[in-house]
Amino acid sequence: MLVRFVRIDGSISQVEAEPGDRLLEVAQADGQPLEGTCEGQMACSTCHVIVDAADFDRLPRASEDEEDMLDLAAGASRTSRLSCQIWLDDTLDGLTVRIPGEVRNMQGR
Ligand code: FES
Repeated sequence: MLVRFVRIDGSISQVEAEPGDRLLEVAQADGQPLEGTCEGQMACSTCHVIVDAADFDRLPRASEDEEDMLDLAAGASRTSRLSCQIWLDDTLDGLTVRIPGEVRNMQGR
């Protein structure tokens, strides 16, 4: 399956991923600037990505904890998600997400 990352400068990278992979690790393996400081504990929001509007409804809904973290993420939008909470499967083939750029941990808190 394929996943696409769109950088802040508009460059697109298309990578091969396996069902069961977590989006955060796929992005990091591709060199995307997602810190993922808390390693999936939903305590940092540095793994924040903005899902393409056309793909957003294909994802399982965010948990309340994830929503709370997203409220604190810099530059969050309606289709924001935490990439550490997204496990890939075949239904997500072609998933496209934007990387919000340099986001400092704990910014604005
Ligand atoms: Fe910290 Fe996702 S890695 S919230």
